[in-house]
Amino acid sequence: MSLLKAVGFALSLGAVVTVANAADKTVSYKQDVMPILQTSCGECHSKGGKGTAKSGLLLDSYEHVMKGTKYGPIIDPGHSVNSVLVQVIEGKQVNPSIRMPHGGVHLSDASIKVIKEWVDQGAKNN
Ligand code: HEC
Repeated sequence: MSLLKAVGFALSLGAVVTVANAADKTVSYKQDVMPILQTSCGECHSKGGKGTAKSGLLLDSYEHVMKGTKYGPIIDPGHSVNSVLVQVIEGKQVNPSIRMPHGGVHLSDASIKVIKEWVDQGAKNN
């Protein structure tokens, strides 16, 4: 193998490793989840917002996200399927009228995936 070919081979190996890492990367609350919640939910689920007024749910900090609504938590760490947070953004709840964001543009599949993975990884404050 010529030196150039060897270098090319090493580089492509590197690329494969990078892709594999991206697949089971740890999702970060601060870097990945918080920006989605701020952009898509902040308008109604922050102090004085109508979603907060009705449900008691604030989505402006990790502590508030974990606290949930006035009825209780919306996240079951490690189990996205059981988490109300995931159910309302996927729109899989029995009542489609509570799909979130309320009346707004639905989250992209990529954003839903980020939130699901974060919950399945234990919904950490990372
Ligand atoms: C345009 C306003 C609005 C936006 C944006 C919004 N919500 Fe809501 N949300 C509401 C209202 C109002 C309620 C009270 C329940 C109802 O009347 O449907 C609510 C309730 C909820 C509940 C409680 C549902 C239950 O069954 O107890 C969750 C969880 C929730 N929102 C999550 C979110 C998430 C996550 C986002 C962002 C992806 C979001 N919301 C964006 C208005 C909004």
